[in-house]
Amino acid sequence: MIIINSVSEMQRWSQEQKAAGKTIAFVPTMGFLHAGHHSLLVEGRNRGDLLVLSIFVNPAQFGVGEDLDVYPRDLCADTQLAAEAGVNVIFAPTVASMYPRGYTTWVDVEGITDILCGASRPGHFRGVTTVVSKLFNIIQPDVALFGCKDFQQLAVIRRMVLDLNMLVEIIGMPIVREADGLALSSRNSYLSPEERRQALSLSASLALARRLAAEGLRDSAAIIARVRDLISMNPATRIDYLQICHQFSLQVQAQIDADSVLLLAVFIGKTRLIDNSLLLG
Ligand code: PAJ
Repeated sequence: MIIINSVSEMQRWSQEQKAAGKTIAFVPTMGFLHAGHHSLLVEGRNRGDLLVLSIFVNPAQFGVGEDLDVYPRDLCADTQLAAEAGVNVIFAPTVASMYPRGYTTWVDVEGITDILCGASRPGHFRGVTTVVSKLFNIIQPDVALFGCKDFQQLAVIRRMVLDLNMLVEIIGMPIVREADGLALSSRNSYLSPEERRQALSLSASLALARRLAAEGLRDSAAIIARVRDLISMNPATRIDYLQICHQFSLQVQAQIDADSVLLLAVFIGKTRLIDNSLLLG
C-alpha cells in the first residue's frame, strides 16, 4: 500500500493503471475510519482490480460554527485499517492542494439539496458534490462506494453522476451498526457515555416506525408523532428533522409505501447525528 499526498502524483498513478487495463474501485472518506468505512472497503476490494481510499476532511462541506476544527483524525490507525482491508493507495491531499489560491469552481445539484440535511446545513451538499467531482477527476474510478448512512448524500451523488454523465458506477452500501443499534459514525466519538445512551433513541425510533408500518399503519404523520414522542423522552435530545420520503425522489410522502424511508437528524447535546431506515423494505 502506498500513501499519495500530491494531486498530480495521484492523477499519474491512476492514468498508468488505466492504461495498463486495470479497473479502479474508490471509497471517499473523511478518515477516522470505523467498521462502516471498512464494509465499503471490503466490497470495493471485490469491485475493481485496484482499491483507492481517500482521506480528506473537506472544509467546503462544513458550515460556519460546525465541527471542522475538531473533526476527529487518526491517520495512523486509518493506515493500519486500510492496509488490512487491502487498499492499494491512500490518497490524502492537503487543503491547499485541493483548494489552491484563486479556486472558484463549484458543482451544485439543485432541488434535492435544499431539503432535510440541506435545509439545516446550507451549502453542505455543494461542498460534497464539488469535492467528490474533484476526487473522481483525480482518481478516475470505475466504481465508487458510498454508505446509505448518509442517505441524502448518496441520492445527491447519484443525481450528479447521472446529470453530468460521469462514467462511474455508484454503489450504495447498508448501514453498519453497533450491537445495540447505534449507527457507526466518526462523530459518535463526541458523545459522553450518557449522551451515547440517549443516542440509542435514534435506532430505537426507526425500529418503532418499522413495527408500526408492519402492523399496518400507513399515515406518515401518525408514525412521525410516535417517533417524536420516543426521541423527546430523552432530555439531551433536540430533533432537527424527522421526515418520511420516497427513497429515490426524496419527495415527502403523506402515506407510506414500499419505497418509504424515514430520515432523521437529532442533536444529542451538541452532536448532530443522522440515521434512516426503509419502513417496509
Ligand atoms: P465520511 O463521513 O467519512 O463517510 C465516508 C463514507 O462512509 C460515506 O459514504 C458514508 O455514508 C459511509 N459511512 C459512514 N458511516 C457508515 C455506516 N455506519 N455504515 C455504512 N457506511 C457508512 O461522507 C463523507 O465522509 C464525506 O461527505 C465524503 C463523501 C467523503 C465527501 O467529503
